[in-house]
Order: sequence, then structure tokens, then C-alpha cells
Amino acid sequence: MTTQTKGIAVVRTITDLRATVATWRAAGHRIALVPTMGALHDGHLGLVRASFEHCDRTVVSLFVNPTQFGPTEDLSIYPRAEAEDIAKLDAIGTPLLYAPSADIMYPPGFITSVTVGKLTERLCGLTRPGHFSGVATVVTKLLMQVQPDEALFGEKDYQQLQIIRRLVADLDIPVRIRSVATVRDEFGLALSSRNKLLKPDQLAVAQQLNRVLTEIAAAIRAQPDQVRKPVLDGLTRLQSLGFAPIDYLVLVDDETLEQLDHFDRPARLMVAGYLGPTRLIDNLSL
Ligand code: PAF
Repeated sequence: MTTQTKGIAVVRTITDLRATVATWRAAGHRIALVPTMGALHDGHLGLVRASFEHCDRTVVSLFVNPTQFGPTEDLSIYPRAEAEDIAKLDAIGTPLLYAPSADIMYPPGFITSVTVGKLTERLCGLTRPGHFSGVATVVTKLLMQVQPDEALFGEKDYQQLQIIRRLVADLDIPVRIRSVATVRDEFGLALSSRNKLLKPDQLAVAQQLNRVLTEIAAAIRAQPDQVRKPVLDGLTRLQSLGFAPIDYLVLVDDETLEQLDHFDRPARLMVAGYLGPTRLIDNLSL
């Protein structure tokens, strides 16, 4: 059943989703998918707006995917705000929201998962076992359900972006993956649904993260052969600000995500750390 709220239609089953997408296809439209877990902020809306520039019709999916949360992670407190999300999407002219239940995505008997090699074993993969398999599985399902021409992902989740690029290439999925630059607040904090979980003092610390990364990046650019020192100094700085634990602060090859000791190719400075129970990630392109 399709529910129409002002300009946006909301579908919750694969049959209803495919019926709308089929009418768009028949009309010759180029179709985009923007996968989300809801609690939408300007970063998500930036992805949707970017999709409007490149495609004629956009499906936004909203599904808080349980298989990408570990047993001790924040699934139960992950922010949920469907009515507000629908209003925000409607306000910018999104035609269709696909919001399936867990039973639709993982019906009884579901036992398949998608595992991407090496890229998932590094960085966040070290401390979040199973996370990227959950992401790869749900993204593959969403791509199969919608069959879009393009799917858009934010650079904030840079490891996720590279994993999705790899899986689409490896599985010959006929979709263009388009990345969109991270949207930041006035202090440079990357917008994230998890920012809502920060207390005011933690938010003030989080808002310093991007400045520290920018300083490390400047030091690396100045002395490309000496990556270790600025990274270690940055680690100490983040610890003194209150990040604990810090899962990683590392310069990596921007495609393979392998750690670099010399800045001699396109690279990303990647960080993940906790403020209280809230885990934040960010990255900068060098
Ligand atoms: O980036 C996210 O919000 C999620 O990992 C995604 C891509 C929607 C898959 O659940």
C-alpha cells in the first residue's frame, strides 16, 4: 500500500516499491537511490539534493539495519524520527520514501550475507566485526530491490563508500556509485545522526576534531616522508581533549585503505574514537 503525505509517497513493501519504480522506468526516467538509516540531517539532504542534479527520480530508503550493529552497539538507542524525516524529504521535493520493516528485509529463513574481503578487515572492521558484512548485505539488497541507475553515499563513511564501490564492481551490479562531500557544521564537525547522542560538553570536544585533523594534514603535506610524528602528536592531542578510546588515527591509501608511512599517493587521514559511549568517525582527503 502506498501512503501519500503531501508530495512524497511512502512505500513499505518490495512490491509497492517496484510498482512505482516500474512506472518511472517506463517513462524513461533516470533513477537514484539514497540509502539511509533515518534521523535525517543536512548531510543526508545534501545526498538527496545531489541526486536531483543527476537523476529524474529519487528513492530514499529508510531502514535501521540491525545486522550492521554489534551486540554491544547502539541499535536500541539509535535515533528514530520517521515523521520528521518524511517532512524533511517532502520539503525538498523527494518523490518516494521506501521504509521497509525488518521482516521485509530479513524474512524468516534469511541466511545469506555479502562479505567483501580485505577492505572490511581494516580500520572500523578491526573493532566492529561483522559491521561491514551487515552494510554490504543490506546495500546489495537495496540495490537489487530498487535497481537504480545511481546510488549516492557520503564521504563521511569513507571506508563504507570504498567497500560499496568494490562490491558493486566485483558483483557486476549495474549501478553508478556517486560520492558526495561530507557536510560539516560551522566548527567543521561532520554531520552525523550520532551527534544527537552527544552531551553539550562532548559536542564542544567533537567540534575540535576537524581542526586537529586539518593540522595533522598540513604537517604531513609539509613533510611527506614523516607521517608518524604528526599522527602521534595528533593522537596525543585528541586524547588530551577527551577522546577515549581512539580506535585509529591513520593515513591510508585512498583506494586500498592500506596504512601509509609516506605521503606519496592520494591518501586519506582517517579517525575513529569515542566521546563517552558515542563513537565518532571522520576523514580528510590529502
Ligand atoms: O550509511 C548508512 O547510513 C548505512 O550504513 C547504510 C548505507 C544506509 C546501510 O544501512
